[in-house]
Amino acid sequence: MKKFLQVAAATALLVSASVAADYTIKFSHVVSPNTPKGKAADFFAKRVDELTAGRVEVKVFPSSQLYTDKAVMKALKIGNVQMAAPSFSKFTSLVPQLQLFDLPFLFRDVNHVHSVMDGEVGQVMKDLVTKKGFVALSYWDNGFKNFSTNGKPLIVPADAKGQKFRIMSSKVIEAQFLAVGANPQVLPFSEVYSALQQGVVDGAENPLSNFYTKKFLEVQTSLTLSSHGYLGYLVVMSKKFWKKLPDDLKPKIIQAMNEATQMNRKLAAELEDEYLANIKAYADKSGKLKIFTLTDAQKDAWRKATAVIYPDFYKVIGEDLIKKAQK
Ligand code: LMR
Repeated sequence: MKKFLQVAAATALLVSASVAADYTIKFSHVVSPNTPKGKAADFFAKRVDELTAGRVEVKVFPSSQLYTDKAVMKALKIGNVQMAAPSFSKFTSLVPQLQLFDLPFLFRDVNHVHSVMDGEVGQVMKDLVTKKGFVALSYWDNGFKNFSTNGKPLIVPADAKGQKFRIMSSKVIEAQFLAVGANPQVLPFSEVYSALQQGVVDGAENPLSNFYTKKFLEVQTSLTLSSHGYLGYLVVMSKKFWKKLPDDLKPKIIQAMNEATQMNRKLAAELEDEYLANIKAYADKSGKLKIFTLTDAQKDAWRKATAVIYPDFYKVIGEDLIKKAQK
């Protein structure tokens, strides 16, 4: 019996040793798992496990469980996490040029966004991020942002006057709201719901996915389908960790990332209609949320009112980069 127990214990040890990963990647993000970013992160984890036969394990921590917006950049630097997918605004203090993606009405549609990300401008940005000690892996989508508020619904730019809006840490987004006489206030994503609920701010700007999955719709009385700006992500890994990975594993991580990127972009496009249908259903049922669609003329008024900020960022972002992106 004793012998049997010894053999059983030794076998269990062997089995557990053979399944333990050689490398663990902690991947921290702030949104819900059921968003284009959350789903792509989970898919990436699954593919890394399959492609590396369990040698690399990716543990995904959604919904700011581990770190909030700013803290994750530091955590990456000191090796407390190995991967993150922050939105462009969150890079502002490190690589202010990435604020290009925050410029209002820069992109005609998502194909335009992709051509910038996957082209020369996107590469320049990735190189700048690399110089700061990260590996810039890939660009992921969320979607176009819309205004929401508990104050006067935003139809024309003057409606924003005097209202307080939660913003991400981006000088471009700050300038966008100041240009229409509003008061922008930087808050981490994890605090948006309570800030809206308690009236710390009147409104915010979010893609439909975040507006729906973080339940901001419960604490806002109007949503304006303005699509005035874009929200996407740069997926980054700690350079120190990347260097530690053996050469045979690196291409597998890249492959998993390429597959996850394709999946993310497809999902972001597909889920948009579903989120809108869910938001409309909530609005109808609750009677508390009104949804507004802007006419072309109204949209043009917002474009004109916010275009004045562009020259202020020629130096910070690079006029040439902005012009190239506009093309
Ligand atoms: C925000 O702070 O609003 C977004 O960056 C959250 C996210 O990651 O989509």
